[in-house]
Amino acid sequence: MASERLDRIRLSGDVPNHVAIIMDGNGRWAKQRGLPRQLGHREGMKSVRETIEGATEAGIKIMTLFAFSTENWNRPQKEVASLMSLLRRYARKELDSLKRQGVEVHVLGEAERFDDRTRDAVAMIVDGTKGGGTLRLNLMISYGGREEILRSVKILAERVAQGELTVDDLDEDVLHQTLFTVNVPDPDLLIRTSGEYRISNFMLWQIAYTELHITPILWPDFNREHLFEAVLDYQRRDRRFGLIGVS
Ligand code: IPE
Ligand code: IPE
Ligand code: MG
Repeated sequence: MASERLDRIRLSGDVPNHVAIIMDGNGRWAKQRGLPRQLGHREGMKSVRETIEGATEAGIKIMTLFAFSTENWNRPQKEVASLMSLLRRYARKELDSLKRQGVEVHVLGEAERFDDRTRDAVAMIVDGTKGGGTLRLNLMISYGGREEILRSVKILAERVAQGELTVDDLDEDVLHQTLFTVNVPDPDLLIRTSGEYRISNFMLWQIAYTELHITPILWPDFNREHLFEAVLDYQRRDRRFGLIGVS
């Protein structure tokens, strides 16, 4: 279906290269309907599909989705199990369509915490989509921004201790090379659904100069038009990066 918003995005031309999303509000969506929380998560998978399609239509090259945080491991065991099961189901169900669309999937986070079945499902979707050139999709699972930075610090400290690097060699580029998002440019736009004005430990290093778009829409209700709306909002911003900008 032709989208008037998509036309406007194309006319403006300045499409964000990398869009990240904190997909929040599945539980509230379910609660409003008197349904168990896991049905909210399941419904949220449709929004993931929509968002990926919308991203390719708009010409976004990198999409990063926050699917499960380090802190989310502390939710009730039943909910954690159902989220892991949903991830495995997503990998099985979506592999062919992601391949067809040219989506290359990366799963970033502390993968050592996954159980064997989940690890296999992740390997299948990552290996199966390798080489997709339309969109790079980063699924952030078992991910926390502080843990990521701490992990980098440990890697670099170890290299210095081994004599591979000196303290003077350390700079932003060197640190970037040790992050889960190695070789991925920082997000241009970060969207958070469900109206919460917080970052919840997401990509703390990478969002230093990212534009923020917060929408009250709950994640299961989020569709491509909401994505386009966020991109249009982004296109109205004046990104100054600490400089004085154009007047
Ligand atoms: C987001 O929805 C999905 C995950 C964090 C895994 P929530 O489960 O956080 O939903 P709310 O915030 O309780 O509505
Ligand atoms: C952030 O949502 C994590 C993900 C979307 C995966 P949460 O629901 O876990 O965050 P808080 O608790 O509202 O900060
Ligand atoms: Mg939440």
